[in-house]
Amino acid sequence: MKIVLTYNLKENDQTKPADYFSEFDSPDTISAIIGALEKKGHTVEPINVKTTNLFSYFKNNRVDMVFNIAEGKNGKFREAELPAVLDYLNIPYTGSNPFALGIALNKGLTKKILKSEDIPTPSFQIFKKLNAELDPSLKFPLIVKPNLEGSSKGISVSSVVHDQDSLYRQIKDTQGLYKQDVIVEEFIEGKELSVGILENGASKILPILEIDFSPCIKSGEYFYSWRMKEYQGNAELGLIPQFHCPARLDKKTEELVKSVALRTHQALGCFDISRTDIRLDKNGTPYVLEINPLPGLNPTESNFPIMAYAAGMKYEDLIDAILMNASERSRLN
Ligand SMILES: Nc1ncnc2c1ncn2[C@@H]1O[C@H](COP(=O)(O)OP(=O)(O)OP(=O)(O)O)[C@@H](O)[C@H]1O
Ligand SMILES: [Mg+2]
Repeated sequence: MKIVLTYNLKENDQTKPADYFSEFDSPDTISAIIGALEKKGHTVEPINVKTTNLFSYFKNNRVDMVFNIAEGKNGKFREAELPAVLDYLNIPYTGSNPFALGIALNKGLTKKILKSEDIPTPSFQIFKKLNAELDPSLKFPLIVKPNLEGSSKGISVSSVVHDQDSLYRQIKDTQGLYKQDVIVEEFIEGKELSVGILENGASKILPILEIDFSPCIKSGEYFYSWRMKEYQGNAELGLIPQFHCPARLDKKTEELVKSVALRTHQALGCFDISRTDIRLDKNGTPYVLEINPLPGLNPTESNFPIMAYAAGMKYEDLIDAILMNASERSRLN
């Protein structure tokens, strides 16, 4: 097949905030995907969505399939824009459609859908105004997050608040930095889990990944903050979370967590691939935090490939499964 790989590249621009490029992909990820596709006999043209006029490129270059990992330029529909262009031009692509991508990028909207499907998710409130009254049913500790970001942008130890004063300070800081609505939700103490769904026939739900932050306690970080994600593995900083895949869960809990992730994937209408982040509270309730229809695919650092390896897949099998599922879908349409 003639495939175009669409991506956003991480840049080294010191004038931007430290987390500015966190959602974007490194040259390593891009070359690993190209290598995996070429191994299966495809020809691949990589396209940086930031520097390409997408409409005219795809209008003038017919391709069999787009392998899409692009997070988009900016704004609340950024991930949906390229798939919308491709739909308009009738070009098949991997992954979710603009509708699912647009909703999944919006944590509050996603949670409303989860609630309506009886999928547990932490109680929450969206702050459009800095001084709106706090819903009295919400119990501290609360966590304050930008409503429309990923890669833990805007999420640090100070995002977890224990009283109203620090809550309103954090809402103000978060809104000031990210210029968007802020979501405040109950902080769920418990195991951090992530579940990969890969639609490749029978083995749809990959082994659950558990991320244990107890070895990081001395660093002052104790959950998957931006700093934790950015520097994980750095022993000097003490940011050495331990990964367990499959997660250390009894069979019944494992099945429950998997079914919640699959229902989340289906409720949002995701295609081919997604990664759902979950916190399991002390009573064994799996609370869905959010779903990522464009999970990171770095072969050594990203969580999704770790799950695929635990399922016995090689990196090229993972990339091929995404591609094959998308091809099958486009054939049926
Ligand atoms: N309600 C919560 N209770 C406990 N921990 C939470 C909660 N919300 C977020 N966290 C912590 O913050 C991390 C990042 O939150 P979340 O997954 O919502 O952000 P994200 O930026 O969309 O992440 P991603 O990098 O997966 O796109 C979680 O993995 C978890 O460790
Ligand atoms: Mg997450």
